[in-house]
Amino acid sequence: MNDFSRRILDWYAENARDLPWRRNTDPYAVWLSEIILQQTRIAQGTAYWHRFMERFPTVRDLADATEDEVLRLWEGLGYYSRARNLHAAARQIVALGAFPDTLEGIRSLKGIGDYTAAAIGSICFGIPAAVVDGNVYRVLARHFGISTPVGTTEAKKEFTLLAGKLLPEKEASAFNQGMMDFGALQCTPQNPDCITCPLQATCDAFRTGRTHLLPLKKSAAKPREQRLNYVYVRFDGETAIRRRGPGDIWQGLYEPLVPDPAFVREASPVLLKAGVKHQLTHRTLLADFYLWQPSSRPELPEGYKWIKEAELDKYAKPRLFELLLETIQP
Ligand code: ADE
Ligand code: SF4
Repeated sequence: MNDFSRRILDWYAENARDLPWRRNTDPYAVWLSEIILQQTRIAQGTAYWHRFMERFPTVRDLADATEDEVLRLWEGLGYYSRARNLHAAARQIVALGAFPDTLEGIRSLKGIGDYTAAAIGSICFGIPAAVVDGNVYRVLARHFGISTPVGTTEAKKEFTLLAGKLLPEKEASAFNQGMMDFGALQCTPQNPDCITCPLQATCDAFRTGRTHLLPLKKSAAKPREQRLNYVYVRFDGETAIRRRGPGDIWQGLYEPLVPDPAFVREASPVLLKAGVKHQLTHRTLLADFYLWQPSSRPELPEGYKWIKEAELDKYAKPRLFELLLETIQP
């Protein structure tokens, strides 16, 4: 066996977490734990696993329940499609007569993808299929110095291939769970414990000082920044607003004067607040708020109208306009 896998197995023999579904290899119990843990942390997931095992000790009990009851017991875990799939899969299993014991059979159950099929297959039936989850990505990327960005199809292929090569045929269960626990306890996302790590001597990220840089994440498109100026005009108890036309998220809403830079220089309104931040999905708006109190009634640019300040409430406004009003009104 290769050195890496030997050390993972040795580490797991010493450090395996004592999780209740590890005490036997009942596929129903393991399956339930894997579905719960898909999007839930171990501590919270364990409590729900006990709830489910108590109320539905066997797959038949789960299949016999109504979907409503399953959903109620799931309440608080989120991602409710998991609960609906769980219930549907329980009925699939009962119809099959037994829990499927091949990778394809397990994969054909509702709510089960590559990861979950490999986990159940290896843990319950000793099938040599490598699990590739976030922990596995991290451990492999660091130890072998792989900088393919995770979350890409290329990375999925590359890491699945590597994990499969490292997997010891006869110890798939311990290796897979060892990798997951190792990633959760030793080679953690922040501040991995390299000092006590049994893989330190061969770890590429440690040797090159890149543990905090790996695994590489696909860089999310950086939100663009956009500056804008809002001018609140006040004359004789009135202010000027304009309704946004079609073509953006604020269509139909009202906004104050949006002046060009020349206006700001010439009219010299009073700056109330600079760089007020408003986060949109793909943009960060940074607004400067001004108050302008001219001594005679000014001409308004195209599209604006005068309204009584007291009637501002009647107009739908974007959040930034509300912030401007909060700045003005004490
Ligand atoms: N997370 C999800 N499934 C797990 C397992 N079987 N062992 C450790 N962590 C896990
Ligand atoms: Fe992870 Fe550090 Fe161990 Fe490398 S040396 S495998 S980065 S814990």
